[in-house]
Amino acid sequence: MCGIVAYIGKRQAYPILIKGLQRLEYRGYDSAGVALLNGAMHVYKKKGKVQELINFAKTQDCEGTLGMGHTRWATHGKPDDINAHPHTSGDGRLTLIHNGIIENYATLKTALMRLGHTFTSQTDTEVLVHLIEELQRREHLPIEEAVRVALTKVVGAYAIVVMDKTEPNKLVAARKASPLVLGIGQDEFFFASDASPIVEYTKKVVYLEDEQIAVAHRNGAYELRNIFKNQIEEPFVQQLNLTIEALEKGGYDSFMLKEIHEQPKTIGDCMRGRLNAEEGWIKLGGLEEYEQRIGNAQRFIIAACGTSWHAGLVAEYLFEELARIPVEVEYASELRYRNPIITDKDVVIAISQSGETADTLAALELAKSQGALIYGIVNVVGSSIARLTHAGSYIHAGPEIGVASTKAFTGQVTLLTMMALSLGYKRGKISKTQYHKLLTEMENLPSKMEQVLKVNEQVKYIASEIKDAPNALYLGRGYNFPVALEGALKLKEISYIHAEGYPAAEMKHGPIALIDENMPVVVICNNKSAYEKIVSNIQEVKARKGIVIAVVTEGDTIIKELADYIIEIPDTEEPFAPLLSVIPLQLLSYHIAVMRNCNVDQPRNLAKSVTVE
Ligand code: M6R
Repeated sequence: MCGIVAYIGKRQAYPILIKGLQRLEYRGYDSAGVALLNGAMHVYKKKGKVQELINFAKTQDCEGTLGMGHTRWATHGKPDDINAHPHTSGDGRLTLIHNGIIENYATLKTALMRLGHTFTSQTDTEVLVHLIEELQRREHLPIEEAVRVALTKVVGAYAIVVMDKTEPNKLVAARKASPLVLGIGQDEFFFASDASPIVEYTKKVVYLEDEQIAVAHRNGAYELRNIFKNQIEEPFVQQLNLTIEALEKGGYDSFMLKEIHEQPKTIGDCMRGRLNAEEGWIKLGGLEEYEQRIGNAQRFIIAACGTSWHAGLVAEYLFEELARIPVEVEYASELRYRNPIITDKDVVIAISQSGETADTLAALELAKSQGALIYGIVNVVGSSIARLTHAGSYIHAGPEIGVASTKAFTGQVTLLTMMALSLGYKRGKISKTQYHKLLTEMENLPSKMEQVLKVNEQVKYIASEIKDAPNALYLGRGYNFPVALEGALKLKEISYIHAEGYPAAEMKHGPIALIDENMPVVVICNNKSAYEKIVSNIQEVKARKGIVIAVVTEGDTIIKELADYIIEIPDTEEPFAPLLSVIPLQLLSYHIAVMRNCNVDQPRNLAKSVTVE
């Protein structure tokens, strides 16, 4: 959702804030703003990308060693200069930036208006800064105490930073259900939504806990407190394991393209030290810790959203086939609100790249309260979901900055595949020979992925042929059905072409009516089982003159005869098919989006991490 960065120290704040906002821009890019304190409070805000703000600020006073910056993904109020953050108190003394939603803002606003407050924006955030102002005025509280008391009256989710013109040696920040990290430098401090704006200044960080408020002082001291108990809490200081190179494009035109090409490495990193085919083992720390309970679970419930949900669907096939454990895959947003039956015999697996998706978090909290064991499959280390779960495994894909998820998907599927294989073997559902064969093939997957990436130019040509189609259909069977959904989602979100993913056999039950000579139909065919059925589905599409783009196993001659375009990828074992077949679909959506002049990394209306429900 929104991105937050703030600084207090001896350096000029503005360059730190702007660089930080550019790193955080993947979280939202409806508008951006900064506030700088140098005796006077200067607030500059602009609708649009951070670049708009930079252009505007060129002619402004940007001095100051205390400041805050924000990049917005709009929730309350349209994206414009007025609704952009930072927001200012009525008396002009305070500025505040916020990520999250204040749910009771309407009630608070009415009460404040009765007390004479007037509001200029339509945001929930402005209400909060006025509430703090009101408490300051009535009770003469220092800024940190006014913020703390105000937050006890707030319902919702927030990460905030507040500055007070009359207390220029303090920066106050707090979090509840929205991420916030404190960077500790030499007599300087940083706050940010994630570590990316901080990493080049310090590696020493504290991830704030839920319901914590922090005060950072210019003299190098800082303090954490629980908002509700008003007690000091010990910080857990961590060393960042993040490099600047990982946050840059590394010669690629976009983060998405870089991340697509990183996949051979990232799935290799995901397996490193966890899988050894020669010695015949898979070791996943989180799994071993709760081996009995997970292995004996009556059912797995997978909760996730978007691309992570598609990885969950692949996992349903994996766990049921390889480990013979029943699986239900749930949209987290539905699970959390439908009074589900969950018991202590269930294991709930949350899949999330960011580890901050609000619906997934809420679904987990519900499942935890009903006694289930919660297992997290997460990319961002130290994220809220990672901390909420009983156990889990990181996918180690490194920062994923392109809004369209690519390497996180293959990382999630790799991790889930290892889990399914390990459980299947330990539960006696896979023979030793089969286990060894599958492990050996898994070790080959990074180099097979390298081979798949060589189809790039060919995919680019296909993209040029179909880029103007208004609709597209994606079909797959078995393990490749979730890949069809994922391919369609990728196309929709970055090229704005309407696309649907379907199990190939379902086509006859409706979508076939859409097929004519203008409809591109992407069929994922690197299956071994149900191969003949897919061939029949392609024939059905061709009989209606649809344009067939088929992803096939190298050497496939049958489909080559039928399809308009084929993309050949290396052969692999059936359970690993999605890890290879998804890559041409990622490339296809990428090239189509570029050819349609779409912003691949920052598609309209989207944000990388959806921290509101
Ligand atoms: O961070 P998460 O994996 O929990 O995010 C879930 C979805 O918001 C995310 O996968 C989204 O669908 C992506 N834009 C897909 O490319």
